[in-house]
Amino acid sequence: MSNTHVREYVAHWAGVTGAERVEVVSAADDARLVQEALAAGELLPAGDGNYYSRSYFKDVARTEERTVVATSDEADKGVYNNWKPASEMKPKLIELMTGASAGKTMYVIPYLMSPKGSPLEKFAAGVELTDNINVVLQMIRMSRVGVEYINDLGDNFVKAVHVTGDLPNLGQGTPDDKRNFVTVADERTILHFGSSYGGNALLGKIAHGLRQGAYDGWKNGFLVEQFMLLGITDKETGAKYNICGGFPSASGKTNLAMTLAPDALGDRYYVEFYGDDIAWIWVDEDGVLRGFNPENGVFGVAKDTNEKTNPTAIDSIKPGVGAIFTNVAYNEKTQEVWWEGRGDKPTDLDGWLDWKGERIADRPAEEADAPWAHPNSRFTTTLANVPNVAKDFEDPAGVEIHGIIFGGRTRDREPLIRAINDVAEGVYDGLTLGAEATAATDGLEGVLRYDPMSMRPFMSYSEADYAQHWLDVIGAAKEKPVFAHVNWFQRGDDGRFLWPGYRENLRPLLWLMQYKNGEVKGVETPVGVIPAREELNLDGLDEQALADLDTILTIDKARWQQEMGFREKHLAQFDGLPEAIWEAHRRVAEALDKS
Ligand code: GDP
Ligand code: PGA
Ligand code: MN
Ligand code: MN
Repeated sequence: MSNTHVREYVAHWAGVTGAERVEVVSAADDARLVQEALAAGELLPAGDGNYYSRSYFKDVARTEERTVVATSDEADKGVYNNWKPASEMKPKLIELMTGASAGKTMYVIPYLMSPKGSPLEKFAAGVELTDNINVVLQMIRMSRVGVEYINDLGDNFVKAVHVTGDLPNLGQGTPDDKRNFVTVADERTILHFGSSYGGNALLGKIAHGLRQGAYDGWKNGFLVEQFMLLGITDKETGAKYNICGGFPSASGKTNLAMTLAPDALGDRYYVEFYGDDIAWIWVDEDGVLRGFNPENGVFGVAKDTNEKTNPTAIDSIKPGVGAIFTNVAYNEKTQEVWWEGRGDKPTDLDGWLDWKGERIADRPAEEADAPWAHPNSRFTTTLANVPNVAKDFEDPAGVEIHGIIFGGRTRDREPLIRAINDVAEGVYDGLTLGAEATAATDGLEGVLRYDPMSMRPFMSYSEADYAQHWLDVIGAAKEKPVFAHVNWFQRGDDGRFLWPGYRENLRPLLWLMQYKNGEVKGVETPVGVIPAREELNLDGLDEQALADLDTILTIDKARWQQEMGFREKHLAQFDGLPEAIWEAHRRVAEALDKS
């Protein structure tokens, strides 16, 4: 490795962590590393050419309260970024990491969170150091990995240090919790200690691709968001629309970006996958809003993924593609994997282990109904395995963005879709995204909370500055994107979902593009424009869905008025929020009162 800055960085942390050896890895080393992981029992075969791993049972989700953004400027303190002074966090992490990799290999993973040659490439290079071979294998699937990405960069790379720690002895969830996940954003340094779960340990993806990226984007004029990105081509007219959007973790981004293609709605539309979790967005020299997916893989929620809900995902993890399953159920005799919603539950329990590695056949009666797979169990596969990955997904110029959507799990109030034309109202809508938290976040499943633009776990600076940055970036685009709020998760009295979701979600998106083009008018409401029933393509929807449609195309005025009060309190937390956002809030509130 010719970059002396990287060598110095590696030598420094090898000294701190006490690692026994250092090994630089590239994607080309994958097959050998897989063999080593299998030999060490860190990975198990999952059928032919796929793999299985289990993380420690108290280490299966991102841990927000242990995640901190540190800088040397207290003005960076926000409500959700858990800001701490860098001078406090750095010594703490060095102390935790000292000697903590003794006897282990320290892998050096040079990576790029961008297509090669993009205008944002200079913010995208990093070197993750990790003492965990599973993290290496997942990083190789999730990002572009190789020494060629960093040789010529000098000191311009993110330093991302991951030390697993002694997982059974970290006091997870107790007052003496030793886990600390820190992004020192103004030093472009990431220090994560105490987890091997992907969301805490794949530093290219989560800590750099989102937190560090968002900070760099704020300082340098671009947006970094927890967004999926997809393209819809109308084969009859040849028109193509690219839509990106944020839903909180485990609320449908991967499914939306993956499941719609390629024969969506009777073969008229072709839906291409660009990304399912992160988008970097900027305005180019011609004033065009553009975006790309910085990742090279998918880290998808396994639960409920099956041939019907998401055939594309099933295809992308078929035998032989090198996918890695984490924390699903595993059969140690047949090497099969299974999760809730995969299909019929195996009736022959022989060989089946649950996500904790415990034998299902030996379960005590009171645990008989417990899930076999963890609700946040995952599959990891590279983009090249996704059948509808866009041909131009690696285009360094990205794609033009026509629409920005926000959504989440909201059991009432939020209609199927409401379109928003005004930029400030669109940004306001993102900032007031309220949804139920999911199993992707430790200990919070089902809790209703606000999650601005779905970036709450990844915020790296203050919400007021974030709002202004959004107004500035979108404001600079010559043609503004249409905004929309979507909700696939409204429930009936019996708890059923009122909308069939998954592949059917193309219908409201098509309506949105027709609306942007002026082909449909929709129905004006105080909270945006919703589809008139007859404007939606309803071909082939089942009876129940047709019967439930009126409910999800209705605005519940009283419930919305109550919501405006909650929003006011939510926004009031953010000192210095741009006046344009408050004005948008007041416009919506007044329109509701008058309606
Ligand atoms: P992400 O974490 O935001 O990428 O969310 P995923 O797409 O992985 O979905 C998370 C969970 O929500 C999975 O269990 C999905 O099966 C489920 N899900 C995704 N889309 C829909 C939908 O349209 N309707 C319903 N009912 N569930 C969905
Ligand atoms: P998700 O991605 O949003 O698809 O769940 C992983 C994460 O955010 O932890
Ligand atoms: Mn995510
Ligand atoms: Mn996802």
